[in-house]
Amino acid sequence: MSDIELLEIAKSMCDKAYAPYSKFYVGAALLTDDDKVFTGCNIENASYGATNCAERTAMFKAVSEGYTHFKKIAVAAKDGSTAYPCGVCRQVMNEFMYDGEVILEEAGEVIKYTVKELLPHGFTL
Ligand code: THU
Repeated sequence: MSDIELLEIAKSMCDKAYAPYSKFYVGAALLTDDDKVFTGCNIENASYGATNCAERTAMFKAVSEGYTHFKKIAVAAKDGSTAYPCGVCRQVMNEFMYDGEVILEEAGEVIKYTVKELLPHGFTL
């Protein structure tokens, strides 16, 4: 699965986003170490703090199915802006894809960061 293919899946997931409050529609797609793809979208709530980001939806779906090691995750916003993961999602990435990569789009170009670049000195026990 190439970075572009994963990003295309992430983009298609924006249509599943439940974001009636922010109207910021986000999709994510991750690749596990054993090459299985899990997808996610942001899921908002009237109690704003109960909102779940697209990245965590995808990661938690994978973990709940028994997959706990991921190679990469692609994230896309419907409006074409670069969907840099929030701090909480970065910390969850630190847990399940410490050596992994994050695939994003910037001005039509695929850009890539390591999780370590996005969260230096992430918390571990
Ligand atoms: N959001 C994500 O799903 N992922 C990100 O990387 C950034 C933010 C969502 C959360 C909320 O539903 C909306 O975008 C606006 O913050």
